[in-house]
Amino acid sequence: MDILNVLPEGTFAALDDLLTFISIYDDRARTQAYLRLLRAHRQAIAGAVCVDAGCGMGYFAEAMVRLGARRVYAVEANPYLYALAADRLTAYPEVVCVHQPIQDFEPEESVDVLVHEFFGPLLYDEDVHVLEALRFRPRLVLPDRAVLMGGLTWIEAVADETVTPAVVRQLKGALVSGLFDEGTLPLQFPVACWRFGKAEREVVCDLSGREGDLLYLGLQIYHGDRLICQAGRCENWPYVWTPRAGDRFRLRFVPVERGTDVYFAWEEVERNR
Ligand SMILES: C[S@@+](CC[C@H](N)C(=O)[O-])C[C@H]1O[C@@H](n2cnc3c(N)ncnc32)[C@H](O)[C@@H]1O
Repeated sequence: MDILNVLPEGTFAALDDLLTFISIYDDRARTQAYLRLLRAHRQAIAGAVCVDAGCGMGYFAEAMVRLGARRVYAVEANPYLYALAADRLTAYPEVVCVHQPIQDFEPEESVDVLVHEFFGPLLYDEDVHVLEALRFRPRLVLPDRAVLMGGLTWIEAVADETVTPAVVRQLKGALVSGLFDEGTLPLQFPVACWRFGKAEREVVCDLSGREGDLLYLGLQIYHGDRLICQAGRCENWPYVWTPRAGDRFRLRFVPVERGTDVYFAWEEVERNR
């Protein structure tokens, strides 16, 4: 969904984000996986003060009320999503809707449980960094861990009549989401990790000894040891692809006003593949 006309200052970005974020609800596997995660923590949620950070339409806030939360703060920075969530959640007196960036939110009571979904296909490329700047300390953060995994395959094995090997090679240095179907390609090795309270903004990954001329990257979301969702199975997070041009690459994430800028570079002399 793309907005094709010029809109008044400030409106375009907020409406564009609205369209981007509502499209996540096409991914039922993602939403169901999160709802299962909440149900698995029903004992922690019952009677608790909870925060749905970046609540979008507020489905997780609603689920936490149904699981017995005493109060739920549904915090959303986007004005259009905030309005939609506030409208949906008026039926629940336990819910307080807050139109604020989560980094500015200062609840007057201590928070037991926080749920969030700020992950991009490259883990850090959307808004997960905002959790480093919270003004409160939740006792339990759901989920608390994610890993950006990598894998290697051969261009010839996945190329098709449109995205030919020649096209793929032109993409050197570009990280392209959804270039190919994930199929059964496995995620093979960790590239970057996130834990609540422990972010990695820059990583170097060494592929020496690994075979393949096409790199793909995919997200895995965990709570503790339990895998919640992963790229390929949840369409919200497609694999990200790039032709291999060396044995080492560097990924750097720089938070900006709206999301996060991603810098990617191969560190070694090009291979003649
Ligand atoms: C990927 S969506 C997830 C929505 C909802 N939690 C869900 O999973 O169904 C991320 C949401 O976080 C909101 N958001 C992004 N940065 C935020 C911030 N700093 N503070 C509050 N909300 C934010 C976005 O507007 C969007 O609604």
